Amino acid sequence: MAELGAHESRLYSDLAPLYDKTFAKFFYSRERTIIQNLNLPADTEVLEVGVGTGTSFPAYPRNCRVTGIDPAPRMLARAQEKIAENNWRHLQVMEMDALNLTFPDNAFDYVMAFHVVSVVPDPIRMMAEMRRVCRPGGSIVIVNHFTSESPIWGTLTKSLDPITRRLGWSTNLRLRPFLEDAAFTECKAYKFSRFSLYTVVVGVNDKE
Ligand SMILES: C[S@@+](CC[C@H](N)C(=O)[O-])C[C@H]1O[C@@H](n2cnc3c(N)ncnc32)[C@H](O)[C@@H]1O
Repeated sequence: MAELGAHESRLYSDLAPLYDKTFAKFFYSRERTIIQNLNLPADTEVLEVGVGTGTSFPAYPRNCRVTGIDPAPRMLARAQEKIAENNWRHLQVMEMDALNLTFPDNAFDYVMAFHVVSVVPDPIRMMAEMRRVCRPGGSIVIVNHFTSESPIWGTLTKSLDPITRRLGWSTNLRLRPFLEDAAFTECKAYKFSRFSLYTVVVGVNDKE
């Protein structure tokens, strides 16, 4: 049986209306803290890939310009509703695949991916696209769940992978190889607490 594209998972289509009542409730405070900690300067151009229903939107300062992309129309419809309801002129969303961004090179100062790396079918290609559209010296900001390096916990989470893949994400992604592939020369990876399931990665886009 052909595997569905992650954005075709029921979670991001039929169940999209439930997303804000479930996942987004857990995700928002983390995204808000990450965005606040960045102290985004005025006029910063931000791209958020896999923006979904726009969980992060209330956290962005109004003096930045933020473009969110996602291939799932029902998630984007909810994001668009939020933009209209709140008259958020600094935000826009577009239907697009993170693996084939249609933006020119160096178009953004910050490129974010919140809870998306383990959802897309090819995280390495997504990172390459994020780096391409981010200007040299700009920042790539990721938050994601990575498989634990602990033998017991790691094996347990990996064993859930066939189930979570059907729901719309993988539990099989390891942080160290991911960072090696990303090859940042300057990068900070941290958790908000020792027991948090999620790691924040902030890398400088040090391409030529
Ligand atoms: C777990 S949700 C995260 C949404 C949002 N970033 C948040 O934190 O609430 C994952 C999102 O990735 C999107 N997605 C799946 N495949 C994608 C792709 N190839 N390119 C961009 N986004 C994708 C899904 O449609 C979904 O909206």
